[in-house]
Amino acid sequence: MAGYDAWLRRGRLPEAALRAAAEPWTRAVCAAEGELRVETAAAELTEALAGLLGERPARLRSAGDAPCIVLGTFAGCAEAGAAFAAPEQAAVGGEGYRIRADADGRRVVVAGTTGIGVLYGTYHVLRLIGAGVPLAGTDLCENPANGLRMINQWDNADGSIERGYAGRSIFFREGEIVDDLSRVRDYARLLASVGVNAISINNVNVHLPETLFMTERHLPRVSGLADLFRAYGIKLFLSANYAAPIEIGGLDTADPLDPGVRDWWKAKTEEIYRSVPDFGGYLVKADSEFRPGPLTYGRDHADGANMLAEALRPYGGIVVWRCFVYNCRQDWRDRKTDRARAAYDHFTPLDGRFLDNVVLQVKNGPMDFQVREPVSPLFGAMERTNMTIEFQATQEYTGQQRHLCYLVPQWKEALDFDTHAQGPGSTVKRVVDRTLFGGSHGGFAAVSNIGDDANWTGHTLAQANLYGFGRLAWNPELSAEEIAEEWVKLTFGADELVVRTVLAMLMDSWSIYESYTAPLGVGWMVKPNHHYGPDVDGYEYSMWGTYHFADRDGIGVDRTRATGTGYAGQYRDPNASRYESLDETPDELVLFFHHVPYSHVLKSGKTVIQHIYDTRFEGAERAEALIAAWRSLESRVDAARFAQVKARLEEQAAHAREWRDVLNTYFWRKSGIPDAAGRTIN
Ligand code: GCU
Repeated sequence: MAGYDAWLRRGRLPEAALRAAAEPWTRAVCAAEGELRVETAAAELTEALAGLLGERPARLRSAGDAPCIVLGTFAGCAEAGAAFAAPEQAAVGGEGYRIRADADGRRVVVAGTTGIGVLYGTYHVLRLIGAGVPLAGTDLCENPANGLRMINQWDNADGSIERGYAGRSIFFREGEIVDDLSRVRDYARLLASVGVNAISINNVNVHLPETLFMTERHLPRVSGLADLFRAYGIKLFLSANYAAPIEIGGLDTADPLDPGVRDWWKAKTEEIYRSVPDFGGYLVKADSEFRPGPLTYGRDHADGANMLAEALRPYGGIVVWRCFVYNCRQDWRDRKTDRARAAYDHFTPLDGRFLDNVVLQVKNGPMDFQVREPVSPLFGAMERTNMTIEFQATQEYTGQQRHLCYLVPQWKEALDFDTHAQGPGSTVKRVVDRTLFGGSHGGFAAVSNIGDDANWTGHTLAQANLYGFGRLAWNPELSAEEIAEEWVKLTFGADELVVRTVLAMLMDSWSIYESYTAPLGVGWMVKPNHHYGPDVDGYEYSMWGTYHFADRDGIGVDRTRATGTGYAGQYRDPNASRYESLDETPDELVLFFHHVPYSHVLKSGKTVIQHIYDTRFEGAERAEALIAAWRSLESRVDAARFAQVKARLEEQAAHAREWRDVLNTYFWRKSGIPDAAGRTIN
């Protein structure tokens, strides 16, 4: 199946040089201690080397004198313990590892404090081999920056996937957890190989069929899934239905302060832990988009989250509570209510009230995964509350895996944003890794982009987003280029032209997508419901709070304190004053923060209307140019993946023209201002 192995390519490395770089250690793998994750590591390494090098390495239980790769924990494996001095061992955290190739060419030792660390170190060795980095001279130590590196599946029990663009669920069919877990196992391998350590398996919108996963009918299979993921160091979570006490418990309330409800959750949680002793906990979407929650009972989010946290606490479980809370029944005529403000307004008054096994999961932007948004002001605003950042790997608003859009550069911008919460340098990545404010839990979550398509992600190049998410969660200091280059080499091999071409395509792709879709940060302009394709007024007169306010004179949302919704004031200075000022707001966010005339001159020197025309024309051309770039690789990429990507790029180019024409025509008709370059606009 083309693309199935993704970056864990198992085919023989065609490049003799790469094979040579891995020799001689790769002839044998030694793991002696029998720990679950060390055993996984040994199996992964043996299988991968057999595929890559065309020769199965010997599997040793004791190393002897022959060259080999030794896998083991410092405490459980004598060679691993001996290879590193006490201070070197002490520098390795619970999930970290050290790798050292000794000088005389006998040993590569991959060691950790735990088996999970050893497993991550093993995947690191495979990354080195796959990218052609010689093992000789390797001496490194790695620890993850973030504790929680979580994937959220939005899979439904019937096998559909909310906002899924790569086929059906690999987990569920017709209300049941699937029997054959081989595909799930391969997914676990992909996730573990990039350091993901947690997964919630069902959609955050939990309806009755998924609520039933918490009952004795399904728990044995949930337990089977947890066993599978455990071997790869991944904890299993369930998305919880806040109204479960009513829907499956027979109670008449889900009030978090009701003793009966509290007891119900305690008993339910205990039952889950009997089946899954290391259950991760609950992911909760409450009082959001018609889902039930504590507000119904006059309680707040802290009451709701803490009730679940108390039930989980005896077992070490956590509550991941989402902050995607806003009024989705807004009157479009009401210019005062601003959806962007909602999460901050709901949650900041609760700072300090959440138990320490609650972590708030905040989308990167205040709206909803648009191609361009400012960073959510919540990140700098709750110093006494655990927080993770939520990204959307599935490309709901960024081309639905039919368009190319490598999202790591977008995610990097959010992570590097300086909240100024404790002076300069208070970046979002330091909020979520908990080095800024302290706190027990933090990290990254991403909505997954996979389904049962042969290549997992529909668009083969969209695999880079899943890969990039894991790598970035492990180390947010990696650059988007570094991650992309690793991914290309592991996925397509070391051919220089392939590496350079695909890297350039990926790195340009976000900007290309932005340049023909909604302009200057204003968002949406998509067809309602499925969100694919241009419809400028698709959401303009709806209840969802996602407006652009274009009229004959201008466009944009006034979110200033002086004359608008006041959203800009949710940031700390200097961000608040920067966004308050039209002159200081960066071009790419101008329409997010300000309503301006079409004749307003941007920092680029262009008027808003001319910017719209120019970038739409350029965007369509740049999308077209992606096809030519890819075609240049025809003889260098296998035929199946070549054809698959080519077909997607062709669809993208045609669709980019549609975006160009719909947007340009709309704004020309609205404004009556002609294109300065005199190009054809209908
Ligand atoms: C978006 C998306 C929904 C999803 C929601 C969420 O609004 O369109 O499908 O349920 O985000 O994040 O909860």
